[in-house]
Formats: sequence, C-alpha cells, structure tokens
Amino acid sequence: MALGPELGLPHHIPICSPHAWHADGEPCPSIWRDVVDGVKVDSDSGRACTDTVRYECRLGAGCLRQINEIRNSVCVSVSETRLLALAKNRTDFEGPETMPNSSDRFEGKTAIVTGAGAGIGRATALRLAGEGARVVATDINADRLRQLVEAGGKADIVTVLGDITDQSTAQALLSAAGDKVDVLVNNAGIMDAFLPAAEVDDATWARVIAVNLTALMQLNRTILPVMTAAGSGAIVNVGSEAGLRGSGAGLAYTASKHAVNGMTKHMAFIYGPSGVRTNAVAPGAVETSIEAPFKSDFAAARIGPVMQATMPPVAQPEQLAAAICWLASDDASNVNGVILPVDGGWSAV
Ligand SMILES: NC(=O)c1ccc[n+]([C@@H]2O[C@H](COP(=O)([O-])OP(=O)(O)OC[C@H]3O[C@@H](n4cnc5c(N)ncnc54)[C@H](O)[C@@H]3O)[C@@H](O)[C@H]2O)c1
Repeated sequence: MALGPELGLPHHIPICSPHAWHADGEPCPSIWRDVVDGVKVDSDSGRACTDTVRYECRLGAGCLRQINEIRNSVCVSVSETRLLALAKNRTDFEGPETMPNSSDRFEGKTAIVTGAGAGIGRATALRLAGEGARVVATDINADRLRQLVEAGGKADIVTVLGDITDQSTAQALLSAAGDKVDVLVNNAGIMDAFLPAAEVDDATWARVIAVNLTALMQLNRTILPVMTAAGSGAIVNVGSEAGLRGSGAGLAYTASKHAVNGMTKHMAFIYGPSGVRTNAVAPGAVETSIEAPFKSDFAAARIGPVMQATMPPVAQPEQLAAAICWLASDDASNVNGVILPVDGGWSAV
C-alpha cells in the first residue's frame, strides 16, 4: 500500500516495492510493505525530505526499531506520525525503557545467563545483578560482554566468552560460578530466516538446533548436578511464541522452540522433587538485535498476513527480564513446569 499519495505529499518515494530487493539483498517481507513504502516529511515545510529513508526490511523488531529512529529524527512530523499510524496503528509499540527493580530477591545468589550480551539476556543479567545476584554472563560476542559489564557499573558480573554450543563453554561457566549455581537462564538463541520445510538447508537446521536446543541440554546437564546436590535451583529456558504455534518462524526455529517446551516439562517433572524448578518463557516479538530476515517468499506470503493481523505491539527486553526474574525468584517457589507466554496476549488469539 503506498501511503504517500494518501497523505497528500508531493512525492512518493518507493523504498521497497513488492517485488524489489533491498540494498542488502534481503527481500521485502510483504507484511511490512505498508510501512516501508513511506516518505520522510520535513516538519517545517511539510515537504518530503530529499534524502531517502532507509526503512529496514526486517520482520518485527528490526523494522520497528528503524521506525523508532525515524520518528526520533529531525524530519518527523505530524504527517510522519500519521503515516506510522496508518501502518497498522503500531504507534504505541514503545515499551518502558527500564523496569523497576522490585527488591533484592537474588542477594547472595549466583546466576548464569547465556546470550547475555544483547537483548533479553542483557536485560535479564542487569536485572539479576541489580537485585543482588552475582551474575556469570556468557556470550559469543566479546564487545557485547564488555558493554554489559560497563552498563552494570559496580554490579557483580563475571563474563565468559564462548560459543554456547561448545561443551567447554559449559565447563567454563561452571568453573566461573564456583561451587554453587542458584539460577540458570538459558537464553542464547538464533532465528532461521523463516525457511519452511521444503526450503530449509542442512546448515541452517544444524546451527539452529545446536544453539537453541542442544546447547541447552548440554548446559542443563552440566549445571543440574550442582543444583540437585544443593537441593535447590531455578532454571528458566527462553522459548518463543514460535514454540506455541506454527506461524511464528521457519521450520528449524519452530521445532527447536517446541522442543525447549518439552525439555522444560520433562526437567520440571524429574527434578522438581530434588528442589530444582524448571520453567520457560515464550516471548512474542521483542525489540532486540536478533536477525530475522524472510528468506522465503513462500513463507512470507503465508506467515506475513497472519502475523500482521494478530501480533501485538513489540515488547522491550526489560519486560521479558521481569518475567524471567520472577520465575527465577522465590516469588515463584510453587511454579514448576510452566511455559509462560510473555507476548502481550498474542497466544490468546
Ligand atoms: N526478539 C524476539 O522477538 C524473540 C521472540 C521470541 C523468542 N526470542 C528468544 O529470546 C532469546 C534471546 O534473543 P534476543 O531477541 O534477545 O536476541 P539477541 O540477538 O538480541 O541476543 C542474543 C545474544 O545471544 C548471543 N548468542 C547467539 N548465539 C550464541 C552462541 N552460539 N553462543 C553464545 N552466545 C550466543 C548473541 O551474540 C546475542 O548477544 C532467544 O532464545 C530467542 O530465540 C526472541
């Protein structure tokens, strides 16, 4: 849908036409076409800006983050706001910048967080540390870990650089934690380019299953004996809306997140009597750095309209961190084996 003419603008600058390819080679997902066909309007003159607006052609968070940047730029005007409002009334997607720390629930506790360098993992690590935990944070990206420690200030955050699919990373995390682990947040995960069953390649399948599923099994296997020996522990697995439905991602990601739910319930049943609770969150769309391009036109045509019709506004990582920390805390002492949707009601559709 071209919105420029509807706004009475002098020029309509098509950024991403239905069959065009974006500069970086990514196809334009049809579900955001009404957004990416926009123009940038100068707030003083009301005219279209001369520079081309580069709306990112990514599903969900990436695209909306870009729109946020445009909204905050000098050229944003009433017309631009109207443009965004037309784009599916998604002007209220900005969540809170930070969530309040409610207490010192993790004072004296040690928590391991994977994928702690960005997004949900970073927000969770900072919240756990803010509530008193000693955090052992791991990520594959050294810069992100350094920035996490900077953001934490005087918080007790120890970092372990490594690929979570490498068993030595699990051992390094155990060593860094010392003789006790009270909380384990299995958060690190990657997407699968929305490749459906007839198009998924072996490399994508293997990597997504390795990061999203096998690595969780390996780290749980490493940490569980410490928890059961202590007679207490809380594990929170980060699943996905795609673990609850068939229309949230490609085949590999969907299968991996459904399996995370099964792993969660199995561990909850087996180790609950040993004092170890295992739960999962199923996030909807969250504004993070996760890469989620559509590399299948077939899947985009099938999934796009369903997502556009049903997906609530994008959440902030801090909103997920709040739910994860609740499940990890003694406030949830009688909660075990739950898959908690944290999705603004998406799963209720
Ligand atoms: N963002 C969303 O919309 C969304 C929705 C549903 C579920 N999730 C899930 O939330 C979790 C966190 O995702 P996010 O959106 O915060 O992503 P993100 O990309 O912002 O952060 C993930 C972090 O994990 C790290 N990481 C990736 N692979 C790794 C590996 N092999 N070893 C160690 N670290 C690795 C990355 O470097 C990154 O810092 C994932 O499990 C994801 O599937 C995210």
